[in-house]
Amino acid sequence: MNSAISLENVRKTLGSREVLKGISFTVDQGDIFGYLGPNGAGKTTSIRVILGLLEASSGTASILGEDVSQDEARKKVGFVLEADGLYDNMTAEENLEYYFRIYGVPEPRGRIERVLDSVGLGDRAKDKAGTYSKGMRQRLALARAMAHSPEVLILDEPTAGVDPGGQIEIRQLLLNIAHEEGKTIFFSSHNLDEVERICNRIALIDRGEIKLYGELEKLQREMGKGEVIIDTSEAIAESLFAELKSMPHLGLREKKERTLVFIPQEGVEVSDIVSLLSGRGVKIEGAKRKEASLEEMYTAILKEVEPS
Ligand SMILES: Nc1ncnc2c1ncn2[C@@H]1O[C@H](COP(=O)(O)OP(=O)(O)O)[C@@H](O)[C@H]1O
Ligand SMILES: [Mg+2]
Repeated sequence: MNSAISLENVRKTLGSREVLKGISFTVDQGDIFGYLGPNGAGKTTSIRVILGLLEASSGTASILGEDVSQDEARKKVGFVLEADGLYDNMTAEENLEYYFRIYGVPEPRGRIERVLDSVGLGDRAKDKAGTYSKGMRQRLALARAMAHSPEVLILDEPTAGVDPGGQIEIRQLLLNIAHEEGKTIFFSSHNLDEVERICNRIALIDRGEIKLYGELEKLQREMGKGEVIIDTSEAIAESLFAELKSMPHLGLREKKERTLVFIPQEGVEVSDIVSLLSGRGVKIEGAKRKEASLEEMYTAILKEVEPS
């Protein structure tokens, strides 16, 4: 299976500055991929390269296996850039009709109605885009991006400037599009909470370089240093503590009143520790592997460089 989006060592110089310094990452089909980074990091520039709107100085970018310079690649993508490009004095319906017409996208019967329904704007189809809130505009832009049923959606900061209620609606919509319609979604954001809630894979760009990339849960486990925390309903007996301490594969680090902290060796699961303790008659109230929050990872990585 081809990857949905693939960048290999993409460099881009704008003016006298190298804005992208050898970017590589892969977005798999079906991913909700969060592209994180502070202002000026190079997110929009990367997106413009992926969309074939800007030519890389070197390196390659492809969509579903086709180089982004190919029309075939572009047809499989829908996108929303920072400026939503909607016509304020046209209704939602007219905005979409116009789009179908100028881009020569075939317009199956009822498609506009369906696509507006799918973004929750069915009952506002005849209102002018100029009367819409920022969140509604983003949903209308999303409807337009999906008009030709693309495989891959690329969105530049889809919730920027949208109020919290509107952000929730957009997130739900993105989850639906990915999980029910099986599309791939790539979006840039500096909202860590949002990315943590809906993305399965992320990349973090800073000053034109990728600083972190991978499956979100895996990164969180790795950066959580693998701690396993067990809460018990009664204090642990000293004799049991000594026994646990003598088992190096458990990596017992700490005992508090009713909490044990382990950093177990690879291959030792939370459930292994739980069954061992249960077997010794310990009543367990909670057992979890500690994970780093995206915010912890983000600040840990970005604090290594002085602010620009
Ligand atoms: N046309 C241009 N000429 C020179 N520098 C540019 C141009 N466009 C963007 N930049 C610079 O490239 C850097 C990355 O910009 P951008 O990709 O828009 O970042 P982001 O979307 O992450 O905020 C910024 O420092 C910006 O000032
Ligand atoms: Mg940007």
